Amino acid sequence: TRLLSVSSEVFPLVKTGGLADVAGALPGALAEVGVETRTLMPAYPGVLAKLGTAEPVHRFELLFGGPAMVLAARHGNVELLLLDAPHLYERPGGPYAGPGGYDHPDNWARFAALGKAAAEIGMGAVEGWRPDVVQAHDWQGALAPVYLAFAQGPRPKSMVTIHNLAFQGTFPHAVFPLLGLPDSAWSLEGVEYYGSVGFLKGGLHAADIVTTVSPSYAREIVTPEGGMGLDGLLRGRRDRLVGIVNGIDTDVWNPMSDPHIAAPFGPNAMEGRALNRRALAEEFSLEEADGPVLAVVSRLTWQKGMDVLVDALERIVHLGARLVVVGSGDRMLEGAFLAAQARHPGRVGVRIGYDELLAHRVQAGADALLVPSRFEPCGLTQLCALRYGCLPIVARVGGLADTVIDANFAALASGAATGFVFSPLDADALVAAVQRACELFGEPPAWRALQKQAMRSDVSWGASARRYAALYQSLINGENAAP
Ligand code: ADP
Ligand code: GLC
Repeated sequence: TRLLSVSSEVFPLVKTGGLADVAGALPGALAEVGVETRTLMPAYPGVLAKLGTAEPVHRFELLFGGPAMVLAARHGNVELLLLDAPHLYERPGGPYAGPGGYDHPDNWARFAALGKAAAEIGMGAVEGWRPDVVQAHDWQGALAPVYLAFAQGPRPKSMVTIHNLAFQGTFPHAVFPLLGLPDSAWSLEGVEYYGSVGFLKGGLHAADIVTTVSPSYAREIVTPEGGMGLDGLLRGRRDRLVGIVNGIDTDVWNPMSDPHIAAPFGPNAMEGRALNRRALAEEFSLEEADGPVLAVVSRLTWQKGMDVLVDALERIVHLGARLVVVGSGDRMLEGAFLAAQARHPGRVGVRIGYDELLAHRVQAGADALLVPSRFEPCGLTQLCALRYGCLPIVARVGGLADTVIDANFAALASGAATGFVFSPLDADALVAAVQRACELFGEPPAWRALQKQAMRSDVSWGASARRYAALYQSLINGENAAP
C-alpha cells in the first residue's frame, strides 16, 4: 500500500502539539506492516534548514499567487514531500502564526495550497509514485479530499483524520472564489459552513472515510456536547467514522536508553528512577517532603482543564503533594501558576515555555502526571507517563479514558490498574483523585506494583499501525463499512 500523509507539522522538524508526534512516528510503524508512506508538509524555512538535500519532483507554475514546487527529502525514516512555495511559507514565526503570535491572515491560502498539492500528487503529479490512499490530518490538510472529489480520472481513496475538532479552519465566504473549486462546491455537501468556508467540514464530507485518534473520542464527537457544531454531519457519517488510538515513538520515549535523563531505568530496574526523582527535585528547588511529586507537561489552556487545576491547587498542596508545571499558553493561566510558585516556594515549581528535553526529565522524575482535560481526542503525555512510571491522573474523557485503567479496588486486586481516572471534570473530583494517589503513594509496595503495571502498558504504535493498514486495505478493496 502506498500512502500520502498530509500534515502541517512533523516531529522533530516542526511541532506545536501531538499532531506532529503522530505524523512523525506513524510512518515508521506503518512501514513494518507493509505501508509505504510519503508525508507532504509545507517547506517552512526552519524545516528546509534541518534537511540536507531536497530534490524537486514537481513544479506548479502558479499556486495561490506564486510559483511553487514539491521537493523530495528524507529525515530519519520519514520520506518527505515538501511543498516549497516561498510566497506562502517563507516567513518567521511558527507554522500558523507570525512572531507576534497572530495567525497569518492568508492561512486559508497556505493550507488550501497544501490540500491542492496533495490532491495533485494523489492524481499522479510526482512521476513514478502514485498513492493508493491520501490521508489528510486536521483542517490544514482537509481540502485534499475536496479537491480530489472534483478531480477527473482515476482517484486514490481519501481519509480525513481528526486530531482536534476545536480547530476547524473556518474562513470568510470571500475566499471561496479564490480556492479554484467549482461553484457546486459551495453547498451543504461541499465547503459551505453556516455562510463561511469550512475546510474541515468540507473534508469530512468529501473523504471516503473519517478517523479520529481514539474510540472514545469517536463516540463523543457524534454528540452535541462533543461535536463542536459538526456532530450532525458526523452522525450522518457514523458508518464511515473510526477511532484508532495513538501510540508514541517508543525509541524516543525509552527510559532504558533515554540520553536526556539522569539515569536509565525500567520495570525490572527501578533503582535509576530514584536518581531521576532527586535530580528533578533539585532542578525545581523542591523541598523534602513525604508526599508525591505531581507534574504537568501541557499546553496551558482551557481544553487541558488548567483552570480547574488552578482552582484545586491550594488543596493539592495542602494534601502534601508538590507540583511541577512545564507549559505555555494562556497568559492568565501562566500568571496563575507563577503566582502559585511565589506563594509556595519549594512546593510548586513552574517553567513557562516549551522544552522537549525537560519533558523527558519530568516524566522520568515525577511520581504522577496530571491531565485534567475537558476534552482530549487522544493525548500523548499520559502515554509517555505510563512508559516512564509516572502514574497518570486523568479525566475520564476521550483517549485518556481509553488508555489509563483506574486504580479502583478491583483493578488493583487483579493487577490491571495503571493510573487514576476521575470524573466529572471539576476541582472536587480532581482533588479526590489526587488524594487517592497520595494515599497509595503512602504504601510503597502498592505504588511500586502500580508503576510496574503502568510501565508494561503497550503504548507503541504496533497495534494501531495494523489497524490503519487494514483500513487502507479495506478502502482500496472498495468495502463500504468501516471495519
Ligand atoms: P496536544 O496535542 O493537544 O497539545 P498531546 O498530549 O497529544 O496534546 O501532545 C502534546 C505533545 O507536546 C506531547 O508530546 C507533550 O509531551 C508535548 N508538550 C506539550 N507541552 C510541552 C512543553 N511545554 N514542553 C515540552 N513538551 C510539551
Ligand atoms: C491533538 C489532540 C490530542 C492528540 C493529538 C495527536 O492535538 O488535542 O489529544 O493526542 O492531537 O493526535
